[in-house]
Amino acid sequence: MILITGGAGFIGSNFIHTWLEQFDESIINIDSLTYAGNLHSLEILNKKELHKFILADINHFEQISQIINTYKPRAIIHFAAESHVDRSIHNPQNFINTNIIGTFNLLEVSKQYYNNLDEKQKDNFRFIHISTDEVYGSLSLNEPPFTEQTPYAPNSPYSASKAASDHLVRSYYHTYGLPCIITHCSNNYGCYQFPEKLIPLVIFNALNNKNIPIYGDGLNIRDWLHVEDHCQAIINILAQGKIGEVYNIGGCNEKTNLEVVNTICNILDKLQPRADKKSYAEQINFIKDRLGHDKRYAIDNNKIQNELNWAPQYNFESGIYKTVDWYLNNQEWVNNVISGEYQNWLNIQY
Ligand code: NAD
Ligand code: DAU
Repeated sequence: MILITGGAGFIGSNFIHTWLEQFDESIINIDSLTYAGNLHSLEILNKKELHKFILADINHFEQISQIINTYKPRAIIHFAAESHVDRSIHNPQNFINTNIIGTFNLLEVSKQYYNNLDEKQKDNFRFIHISTDEVYGSLSLNEPPFTEQTPYAPNSPYSASKAASDHLVRSYYHTYGLPCIITHCSNNYGCYQFPEKLIPLVIFNALNNKNIPIYGDGLNIRDWLHVEDHCQAIINILAQGKIGEVYNIGGCNEKTNLEVVNTICNILDKLQPRADKKSYAEQINFIKDRLGHDKRYAIDNNKIQNELNWAPQYNFESGIYKTVDWYLNNQEWVNNVISGEYQNWLNIQY
């Protein structure tokens, strides 16, 4: 049995889907269901009986301790976080609470749990911390991509809080011998992503006849990775990753935001043309830049490719087409997560 945090979020829910497609091992999913957590993302699951959802907050030590000591997982994969940069600029408090203090709680519980395992169980146990490439800061256009040796230089409250959590994880490995591995992934895209992030937001706004907001000049660059490729990388890391190591994960798909938005508009023009036959690109609207907006992220993924035999299966063209198509066919999912109806549903459920 493995345990994950944040499994009702974008990457966590995709991870559960991927895991249950490949394995018959059960998975415990701890999530506090913030606005970003959505159980609808887990409705159509292979081997549903192997997934157990537990409503819990990683900030609550006793609650988390009780769950981990009851289920006795052989691994913990920590996805739960406040993840949206713009929200961190607007109000950083939740980012400090969940990303730093929540991770600290989880590490403390894990340390106590690990210390009580027998030697064989200790050898098998892993704590995988899902971090981000944003902790490395921003690249100029001619700098080489981030490697595992790139110094930390976080620029937003979000990336600073993730960097702080990384340092805590590192310290629990070095000080207490907790068998931790840290991953740094680039921008993910795919199904079940909350429509506050660029790609689902563009699709949603385009289809709903709203402006498509592009910050600044639209020339900031992100290195896009399909979420299923990220999940497979984590599975390889859990199986073969070296304790105490760091792995960068990225798709080598550097695109400007403008390129990404135009690609989505072109796909939508073909799959669901506007009634007036004009392009969705007409809805693009350049707006005020994000504060402290990082110019460019790019990942050097040589280490994970060479050591763990991982390679992305999607290129950007195939991945973005599949993603746009998924959102077109799952507008009910989008409407549920944004309408407040989901919150009402939660009140009925819990
Ligand atoms: P997300 O915002 O979609 O999901 C986060 C999940 O964590 C939600 O289900 C939420 O309810 C849950 N959560 C938040 N606070 C919690 C708490 N206190 N206790 C329990 N659960 C809590 O995020 P995501 O995009 O799926 O990102 C998952 C992880 O991957 C994060 O750690 C993020 O930093 C990292 N990451 C994301 C990307 C990306 O492009 N999305 C890239 C690299 C790394
Ligand atoms: O690099 C990994 C990170 O990628 C993760 O750690 C974060 O959790 C994840 O949110 C993502 O951060 P970004 O800030 O890069 O993603 P976002 O989708 O918010 O923005 C992508 C780019 O698009 C960024 O340059 C800002 C720009 N943007 C974003 C939005 C929401 C716009 O131009 N307009 C928008 O409306």
